[in-house]
Amino acid sequence: MRFHIRRIIVRRALVPGTFDPITNGHIDVIARASQMFDEVIVGVAKSDKKRPLFTLEERVALAKEATARLDNVSVVGFDDLLVHFAEEIDCKFVVKGLRAITDFEYEFQMTAANYRLNDSIETVFIMSPPQYMYLSSSIVREIASFHGNISELVTPGVEKALRARFSC
Ligand code: COA
Repeated sequence: MRFHIRRIIVRRALVPGTFDPITNGHIDVIARASQMFDEVIVGVAKSDKKRPLFTLEERVALAKEATARLDNVSVVGFDDLLVHFAEEIDCKFVVKGLRAITDFEYEFQMTAANYRLNDSIETVFIMSPPQYMYLSSSIVREIASFHGNISELVTPGVEKALRARFSC
């Protein structure tokens, strides 16, 4: 009898972002990635330069709650270069959402820079569906700050956190 020993390769993807806070557009990209990869790690960047509204711990907690229904998704905070973090967690794929042509120039630059740092890490893009094309964390923060309706843009947990932050 012959045995075939197969190496089991786990395809792990990193979905990075500041997630200040996570929106339904981000969740859509994460859910799509979770169907394409065995494991998805949502990497929440500390992004001090962006002066986030929520702390890293808060953003991680909100992202965990928002993705809890996705079995193969976990959420981790990081404060490092993206490629260094990907190396640390042994991840060969970075997944990013592309909403419109305006995202392309920036993403192109970031991907080129990341390839220079480590060309074995592949960046793949998932197109956002039309309903999320215009969505961004800053748009959600702006609407929430003026007490507008954000219920279709974020999860109930994120909505609650934003309402508490803007006391509305
Ligand atoms: N749905 C909804 N919103 C989306 C989205 C989607 N599918 N894709 C992107 N966005 C939004 C984000 O919410 C963000 O909105 P905001 O600017 O209003 O907050 C905006 O589009 C920009 O998104 P992104 O380009 O992903 O930026 P980011 O700040 O969320 O994350 C990192 C950028 C963390 C990936 C990047 O800064 C990074 O890699 N940092 C680590 C340090 C590093 O390696 N730097 C690069 C050196 S070459």
